[in-house]
Amino acid sequence: MDRIRIVGGNQLNGVIPISGAKNAALPLMIASLMTSDTLTLENVPHLADVELLLRILGNHGVDVAVNGRREHQDGSYARTIHFTCRTIADTTAPYELVSKMRASFWVIGPLLAREGKARVSLPGGCAIGTRPVDLFIDGLRALGADMEIDAGYINATAPKGGLVGASYTFPKVSVGATHVMLMAASLANGTTVLHNAAREPEVVDLANCLNAMGAKITGAGTADITIEGVTSLSGARHRVLPDRIETGTYAMAVAMAGGDVTLSGTDATLLDTALESLRRAGAEITVVENGIRVIGHGDAIRPVDIVTDPFPGFPTDLQAQFMGLMTRSTGIAHVTETIFENRFMHVQELARLGARISLNGQTARIEGVRNLRGAPVMATDLRASVSLVIAGLAAEGETLVNRVYHLDRGFERLEEKLSRCGAIVERISD
Ligand code: UD1
Repeated sequence: MDRIRIVGGNQLNGVIPISGAKNAALPLMIASLMTSDTLTLENVPHLADVELLLRILGNHGVDVAVNGRREHQDGSYARTIHFTCRTIADTTAPYELVSKMRASFWVIGPLLAREGKARVSLPGGCAIGTRPVDLFIDGLRALGADMEIDAGYINATAPKGGLVGASYTFPKVSVGATHVMLMAASLANGTTVLHNAAREPEVVDLANCLNAMGAKITGAGTADITIEGVTSLSGARHRVLPDRIETGTYAMAVAMAGGDVTLSGTDATLLDTALESLRRAGAEITVVENGIRVIGHGDAIRPVDIVTDPFPGFPTDLQAQFMGLMTRSTGIAHVTETIFENRFMHVQELARLGARISLNGQTARIEGVRNLRGAPVMATDLRASVSLVIAGLAAEGETLVNRVYHLDRGFERLEEKLSRCGAIVERISD
C-alpha cells in the first residue's frame, strides 16, 4: 500500500496549478446519462473517484473517450472526456460500485428521469458520519416517484407519464440531493421549484452545464431554484470549474509552511470565507491574473475560530486543513463542525505530531504549539489525510502518511505539485 513521506521544514515557493473540481466533475459526468448525444467535459481531474465513476457509467451504457493529456507550460494537465450514452444499458447501480463512492448514488436522478426506473444500492463513501439518503427519497417522491427500499437497494419508479414537476423544500441543505433534484426535474413534466437548495459553486456548474444541454434552470447559486421540465436534452461542451477545496488546501499549506506560491487556474470568489479566515490568521492573499498569490510566514500564525457551514460559509471540506494550520498558532482557536457529526478523525493523528487538541461535542479547541514533530500517521478520510500532509510540511523531521489511497480520491498529483515548490514529499510504493 502506498505511503507518503514528508520531510518538513522547507518553505513552498513557485506555482501550483489547480485542477478541475472533483465535486463538480462527478455530477457533471453523471449528467451524461441524461442525453443520447455526446457530452464533452474539459478540465476533468485525474483522480481515483473519477476513474471509478467512469467504470460505473460504463456499466450503465456510457461510452467514454478520453482525449490525451495536454500538458501546459506551468505543468498543469487538462483532460477532456467525451461521454456518449446512446441507450441506458442497465438501470441498476450495484452495491460493489456504489459502496465505494457515495456520489455514484446520484445516478438515481438521471436513470429515473430518462428510463422511468432505477435500482440503486444505498451508498458508502468516507466514514465521516451517517450520511443518510432521506432527502433524496423525499425529494424524488415529491416529483411523483415511488421509492421503495429493498435488501439494501432503493427501487425508484416514475409514474407512467414520467416525473411531475412540484414545489419542494429541502428540510436540510444537501449538495447531493440538490444535484439529483436538478437532474430529475430537468426531464420532468412541468415546473419544479426547489427551496433551501444548496448554493455551492458545484451546483451552479451543474446547472450551467444542464442549461447548455437544453435544460431550463434559473436561480442556481441561490436557495430557490426553478426548473422548467423539457422533453429531452442534447449534447454540450462544458469546462469543469476549478477545485476550491484543492485551492484552499494549498493556500493553507503555504500559510503553515511559509513561502510564496501562486495558485494558478483558480478563482478566489469560490472560497471567500476560507480565504478571509486565512488572512485573519496572518497569510497575505492577493488576487492575481488567473489565480491567487499566497504569502505565508510559517510562524506567528494568529488563532482564528471557524464554524463550518453550507456555502457561502466555511467549507467542511477545508475544516481538517484549517485545524492543521491552527495547531501552530500563537494562541487558542476553536473549530466547530456543523455539517458532519464524525469529522474529527484527524484530531488524534494530528496529536501524534504534537498538536494539542481537545474535543467538546462538535467543537475542537486547539492550543497552538511552537513546533510539531514528524511521526507516522494514518489517513482516515479524504480531507483529513491532506491535513496530515500539510502539518507534516511544517513539522520537524519525517512524517509518514499511511493509507494514502484516501488522498488519491481527491488530490491530483499532490506530491508532484508540492515538490515542484520545494517541499520534500515523495510517494513510497511497497
Ligand atoms: C458533498 C461533497 C462533500 C462535502 C459535502 C458538504 C461531493 C461529491 N461531495 O457531499 O465533499 O463535504 O457536500 O459540503 O460533492 N444529509 C441528510 N440526508 C440526505 C443527504 C444528506 O441528512 O439525504 C446530510 C448529511 O448527512 C450531511 C448534510 O446533509 O450532514 C450535508 O450533506 P450533503 O451536502 O448531502 O453532502 P454530499 O452531497 O454527500
